[in-house]
Amino acid sequence: MPHPSSYKRLLLIGASRGLGFALAEEYLKRGWHVVATERNSSTSKLHELLPAADGRLEIETLDIVHPDQIDALRTRLAPRRFDLLFVNSGVKNDDRETIADVSTEEFVRVMVTNALSPMRVVESLHDLVLPSGTIGIMSSGQGSISNNENGQYEVYRGSKAALNMFMRSFAARHADDPRALLLMAPGWVRTDMGGPDARLSIEESIPNLANIIDAQAGKAGLQYLDYLGRKVPW
Ligand SMILES: NC(=O)c1ccc[n+]([C@@H]2O[C@H](COP(=O)([O-])OP(=O)(O)OC[C@H]3O[C@@H](n4cnc5c(N)ncnc54)[C@H](OP(=O)(O)O)[C@@H]3O)[C@@H](O)[C@H]2O)c1
Repeated sequence: MPHPSSYKRLLLIGASRGLGFALAEEYLKRGWHVVATERNSSTSKLHELLPAADGRLEIETLDIVHPDQIDALRTRLAPRRFDLLFVNSGVKNDDRETIADVSTEEFVRVMVTNALSPMRVVESLHDLVLPSGTIGIMSSGQGSISNNENGQYEVYRGSKAALNMFMRSFAARHADDPRALLLMAPGWVRTDMGGPDARLSIEESIPNLANIIDAQAGKAGLQYLDYLGRKVPW
């Protein structure tokens, strides 16, 4: 392992299970120092990674829909700097529910969790990321407006398309920012969200996704990429 002062540092939001947990595990394997968040320690798998992490894993608590919790995390981490901030948290609604029948409450829950809250995390924490660093958010191929030719997952799609648009506005507002900005599409993966019929295992998606994220370091500007590094059409 490198000397502690030369560790690369990741701040990972939403790592209790699924793809976020796998990203925490993957970056620990790569020798990084990882600060990872969970909402609820009694249901989070993150603690399983502590024994083998050799002091390189710190677990923080954050529910991204609560701005006061984002502010508190910002305050706790104020003196720290990171090579990568990655916001993974996301939810979906019932797949069969269209925009015609979703309740206002459910629409607001998905939009606030998937579009507004990841951006609030980025707005609040981005200045903890080094000028040479990367700011990434887990989007989805479903967020592509151009690729939506068969409908389905309407509310979820809308939330990821909104997220993409907000990140483009962030990028426009930070046009001179030297950091890499990423919206990532992990593929359809077998997790609680992806379900058992999804095309990819976590092992087929996440190490590739991490390779693609790492390969963008130092490349200024926003990209929307899939887990194999292919550009996703907006
Ligand atoms: N699986 C796929 O096929 C797929 C495809 C494209 C994109 N994605 C995206 O990839 C990301 C991870 O998906 P996944 O498949 O791993 O889903 P998952 O197994 O359902 O995990 C979702 C993660 O998000 C966290 N989360 C949800 N709401 C949160 C909140 N308010 N505050 C903080 N954390 C919250 C969950 O924490 P708790 O454990 O506390 O609930 C959990 O860690 C999501 O953004 C998803 O939209 C997934």
